[in-house]
Amino acid sequence: MWWFCLILVLAHCQLQGGEGVESLSTIGVNWGSIASHPMDPPIVVNMLKDNGIKKVKLFDTDSWTVSAFSGTDIEVMVGIPNDQLKKLAKDKDKAEDWVKHNVSKHMRDGGVNIRYVSVGNEPFLKSYNDSFIGVTLPAMQNVKRAIEKAGFGDKIKVTSALNADVYESTSNKPSDGSFRKDVYDLMKDIVKFLHENKSPFLVNIYPFLSLYQNADFPEDYAFFDGNSKSTDDKNAHYTNMFDANLDTLVWSLKKIGYPNLTIAIGEIGWPTDGDKNANEKNAKRFYQGYLKKVANKKGTPLLPKPVNTYLFSLFDENQKSIAPGNFERHWGIFREDGKPKFPIDFSGKGEDKMPIGAKGVRYQEKKWCVLKKNADKKAMQDSLSYACAGGDCTSLGPCCSCHNLDSAGNASYAFNQYFQINDQSVEACDFNGLATIVSQDPSKGTCYFPIAIVSNANTLTPILLIGFIFLFTTIL
Ligand SMILES: *[C@@H]1O[C@H](CO)[C@@H](O)[C@H](O)[C@H]1NC(C)=O
Ligand SMILES: *[C@@H]1O[C@H](CO)[C@@H](O)[C@H](O)[C@H]1NC(C)=O
Ligand SMILES: *[C@@H]1O[C@H](CO)[C@@H](O)[C@H](O)[C@H]1NC(C)=O
Ligand SMILES: *[C@@H]1O[C@H](CO)[C@@H](O)[C@H](O)[C@H]1NC(C)=O
Repeated sequence: MWWFCLILVLAHCQLQGGEGVESLSTIGVNWGSIASHPMDPPIVVNMLKDNGIKKVKLFDTDSWTVSAFSGTDIEVMVGIPNDQLKKLAKDKDKAEDWVKHNVSKHMRDGGVNIRYVSVGNEPFLKSYNDSFIGVTLPAMQNVKRAIEKAGFGDKIKVTSALNADVYESTSNKPSDGSFRKDVYDLMKDIVKFLHENKSPFLVNIYPFLSLYQNADFPEDYAFFDGNSKSTDDKNAHYTNMFDANLDTLVWSLKKIGYPNLTIAIGEIGWPTDGDKNANEKNAKRFYQGYLKKVANKKGTPLLPKPVNTYLFSLFDENQKSIAPGNFERHWGIFREDGKPKFPIDFSGKGEDKMPIGAKGVRYQEKKWCVLKKNADKKAMQDSLSYACAGGDCTSLGPCCSCHNLDSAGNASYAFNQYFQINDQSVEACDFNGLATIVSQDPSKGTCYFPIAIVSNANTLTPILLIGFIFLFTTIL
């Protein structure tokens, strides 16, 4: 009778697969993993499927991550980190090796649906001091040639994720837009390359950062449902920063002779912590506005059609640099453990519902590290600084989700962050005898004291083993 049960189970899975949540076909997500405890790729891929997400953008080509997409129809964009560009620009053989090991392998063996390679990530940011100006286009050309040679020229397009700072406007009007002077000639060559290869211009646009960097920026203009300000430009009427920014790109392209180049949004999103404007309410408002706009196929005045978009980002990343701001670690639509944070409707219908969280996540023990009851408050400060240097304290402070803590609460929060990042090791909860391990959740209001997940490639072995045992017992 076992085969009959198996058929029932399979039929059930089929039904469940068919019922998947609806999501816009143009919407994808960025998946970065600069985190102490990255999620296991197979769990993430299932989570994407559960939410009906059909596109994903990665920042590298981690083999376990890319191969987790094998057999799915999710479109994958892989990335080449900036520190690889020089090598790939200089040496055609290295580019061929890169394609062979990081792309062809997955296309042939696993059937991963790789569609794009982003060569570099925001390589022309001013803060990089021109480090990648000379190497990005040659790397794109070498990678493109290598992909063609490997036989995937029709399927995989080569592009580069660029920050919106490669163009600018001398006024607040899109029609005054043009590529930045120091990269003007380079951008002309890159755009020509994209046009010849039918690749999209991939641009990252961040209304949140405009609001963060500019005290005079009208808050409503960062969202899609505001009406505090609008800009008129020739026959176009702009009511939000995103439209104005994207049309500045359209104008910049038009001025160098490419009015019809395909554009895709490489990153767009809103963080939920670490700044006064970064919270779940604003994130929900921003995404809801954007997704509704995409669903209504409105586009911008100059680009009145839906563009492919990768939301930023899937998960919080607790080891990202906070040089740009404390919000950097809180871009996730989901927490680091795959729990949803706020309602978001990927179908663009604007329904007030939580997305589907990750299933099958394994947590470490229900243990937290906190300040002892009668600890010496004076001795506390050094330990707190130490804990925050090793752990993530970007939720502390008046702006943020843990604003409601007193100084003892601050210390407990910092100690726990350090303890969890160090896999709940007993030595990581000492702090000169000030700290103790407890089994009662110290979370308070909006301030969430996490428990780290179990995360590493070794967990694959027991799963595989169980799989084999299951297979054998079924066959026998
Ligand atoms: C594959 O890509 C990774 C970076 O994502 C790089 O470190 C590695 O060298 C690449 N493999 C080859 C053969 O170039
Ligand atoms: C860029 O230059 C500045 C000033 O010379 C320096 O402080 C910074 O570290 C440099 N950044 C990079 C990425 O090289
Ligand atoms: C761009 O597209 C428009 C409308 O399809 C067309 O009339 C125009 O010739 C195109 N321009 C270029 C430079 O391809
Ligand atoms: C808790 O820590 C934050 C961030 O360092 C600080 O701004 C705040 O004043 C602290 N609260 C107390 C009561 O010490």
